[in-house]
Amino acid sequence: MPVIRTVKDYIRTIVDFPHEGIMFRDVTTLFADPRGFRMAIDQMLHPYAGEQIDKVVGLEARGFILGGAIAHQLSLGFVPIRKKGKLPGAVISEDYQLEYGEAVVEIHDDAIQPGEKVLMVDDLRATGGTAEAGIRLIERLGGEIVGCAFVIDLPELGGRKRLEAMGMDVHALCD
Ligand code: PRP
Ligand code: ADE
Repeated sequence: MPVIRTVKDYIRTIVDFPHEGIMFRDVTTLFADPRGFRMAIDQMLHPYAGEQIDKVVGLEARGFILGGAIAHQLSLGFVPIRKKGKLPGAVISEDYQLEYGEAVVEIHDDAIQPGEKVLMVDDLRATGGTAEAGIRLIERLGGEIVGCAFVIDLPELGGRKRLEAMGMDVHALCD
């Protein structure tokens, strides 16, 4: 009998990256596998079947890979949220705290029109700080967030509760 693999089976853990004590959940092995990548995209979209979505927003960097594939699957446009200083046009910015550091994220100020329905995606939710900053950017432009889809949740870091407390519909494929 062939072994049926789940999304989690394709994700590897790198110990002490990028700092000692961090168990880095590496999705490059998921993305590199044709069945794994297809499974992840299909499963991330499953909760939103039949929902109206106008745009897909992806968080740098691995959210671009997932968001691009999801936007293409839905025949929608894709909008990047990038780290500070990377986007060429006029931007709005939000500061946030990471599991290991601090950062600023930005979005082009004309990337989302008021009332547009947005699906936000990323590979992993840890503290939820990055996603919360992304949500704030989208909402400042008047976007309505239909949901936030992740491949991985690190439950002990509280990101799911934090985003649910903001009223978000959040989904992750595995813990
Ligand atoms: C990782 C991950 C999320 C974020 C989650 O990205 O891809 O975007 O951390 O952490 P949080 O829930 O605690 O905010 P990272 O900041 O390492 O950036 P990269 O994808 O550009 O490497
Ligand atoms: N981003 C924040 N924490 C992470 C982790 N443990 N693995 C991969 N990406 C992360």
